[in-house]
Amino acid sequence: MKLQLTSPLDMHLHLRQDNMLKVVAPLSSKTFSGAIIMPNTLPPISTKEQLLRYKEDILNATKGDTFTPYMTLFFKNDYSREFLESIKDEILSIKLYPAGITTNSEGGVSTIDVESLRPTLEIMSDLGIVLNIHGETDGFVMDREAEFVPIYKALAKAFPKLKIVMEHITTKASADALLEFENLYATITLHHLYITLDDVAGGMLQPHLFCKPIAKRPEDREALLELALNANPKVMFGSDSAPHPKSAKEAPGCAAGIFTAPIALQLLAQLFDKHNKLENLQAFVSNNAQKIYAITPAKKIITLEKKSFKIPSSYGNVVPFMANEEIGFVIDN
Ligand code: DOR
Ligand code: ZN
Repeated sequence: MKLQLTSPLDMHLHLRQDNMLKVVAPLSSKTFSGAIIMPNTLPPISTKEQLLRYKEDILNATKGDTFTPYMTLFFKNDYSREFLESIKDEILSIKLYPAGITTNSEGGVSTIDVESLRPTLEIMSDLGIVLNIHGETDGFVMDREAEFVPIYKALAKAFPKLKIVMEHITTKASADALLEFENLYATITLHHLYITLDDVAGGMLQPHLFCKPIAKRPEDREALLELALNANPKVMFGSDSAPHPKSAKEAPGCAAGIFTAPIALQLLAQLFDKHNKLENLQAFVSNNAQKIYAITPAKKIITLEKKSFKIPSSYGNVVPFMANEEIGFVIDN
């Protein structure tokens, strides 16, 4: 059995810099038509010069493939209207990180409420720039995302014309909030559709399954599956594929991030097939995002075949999700 996907999109991707970029970028550009590139580089992307240079580096690393890097800016609360006007055609969105919440986010925002963010969010709303949010508080790790839900709601209410994407949602609380507000959307990762906290820490500790937000409870995963498998128009695929060298994962102080880019479409096909929902995969991996972001990606047809495939043990020095496991779909291009 074969199936075709047209112009798959990854609406949340970490490509890193330098050698890591050269290893991982082609693994996304081979199968995706485009991706939203996260700005938590070192230093974070916050000037036009940095952004254009980073885009150039990505285009060089993906040369020969049909692939659009949709660029994002790292949210700062002091961006001027002039600056945002001058950069708006180069970006698809701006990503807000609570300070220190995850990899390279120390320069993020420390006070997240409507009044502190109003000046910048009003400009973004006027200019039609989408806001991406890593929605976690600094509370107890399992409760961080649910504690952030009232902030999502307050922002959605205060800025009704601003499109807000709740990035990598992991809880039923977020899934419920998403449906309450017209201007809230969400990305869902592959790994949060597959794993719960039990897979991370229920047996021997699995560093390659450690990520932020941490995987939650079975009922949370069920809520995500309900949205993704039915391709609810408010959700889109965003892998949050976040490569770290093996030495940074298999270490005390394990870095947060799961590397899924090269096997994401295969494992999505496997999941949708298992639930008899393959007809909804196209919307989840491309059409919904096209509507939410008003983009038309370059045409790229990816053929998947239902056939056994063993996930490699590593790509360069990065260990992928489900390394060495046999899965049921392979890319046939
Ligand atoms: O697990 C994660 N890794 N979550 C994030 O939000 C960031 C990412 C990274 O950049 O490593
Ligand atoms: Zn991310």
